[in-house]
Amino acid sequence: MDSGVGGLSVLREIRALLPNESLHYVADSAHLPYGDKSPAFVRGRVNAIAESLVDQGCKALVVACNTATAAAVESLRERFALPVIGMEPGIKPAVLGSNKGVVGILATEGMVQSNRMSDLVARFANGVEVIIQPCPGLVEQVERHALHTPETASLLQGYLAPIIKQGADTLVLGCTHYPFLQPLIEDLLGPGVSVINTGAAVARQLQNRLSEHRLLNANATPGVIHFFSSRADEVQQQIISSLWGGEVVVSPLVEHPVND
Ligand code: DGL
Repeated sequence: MDSGVGGLSVLREIRALLPNESLHYVADSAHLPYGDKSPAFVRGRVNAIAESLVDQGCKALVVACNTATAAAVESLRERFALPVIGMEPGIKPAVLGSNKGVVGILATEGMVQSNRMSDLVARFANGVEVIIQPCPGLVEQVERHALHTPETASLLQGYLAPIIKQGADTLVLGCTHYPFLQPLIEDLLGPGVSVINTGAAVARQLQNRLSEHRLLNANATPGVIHFFSSRADEVQQQIISSLWGGEVVVSPLVEHPVND
């Protein structure tokens, strides 16, 4: 699940690693962005979506959204007795990989303000300078499929400027929407800056957790993928198809009321 289409960047890693698993993807695009909402609101949405996924028979949940993980992963783990995999910005690998000792992070406002972000920096910065840049508006550009427009480039230029100025050699994508902007980000950064995205690590984590719980699908037939959205209109269907790289059907998300 994700606030919108960003989690597709995680879904593609999961699909590549676990092709025999069937996957149900939920985009909560009617309530996006999560980054400017309160943690309580985001928690309410994530719990409601998780209930719907568990009703559909899902055996594990992946919160393919950094902001939602920061707000809701503990609450999900209390509520559901199945593996819950969250995601967080790759500060640890970025710090380990930085030669210059300067690392930048792009994230949503909600993620930047979260305790999870300050905990990650406190645990892993290890003397490295970490520049944390909130990026309002970027999620919406990806939702519009404006991946290479002058408007997106100008937003990104502003967000990358302090990171480039401080001489960072590593940039963390702290939101699952941003991997869709990676080609543009790399153009703007120029050579010599590594970009870190934790989607593949989350897929491996899911594989490990399914294996520990003996939940991996032993059947060798390819899994099917179902797409759901809280805004399952034609525009969204086109955007999901184009980000996914093939025509897909997006069904409306069916939700039940949830008590927090
Ligand atoms: N993809 C979400 C993340 O990883 C974006 C949250 C938002 O909607 O602001 O943080």
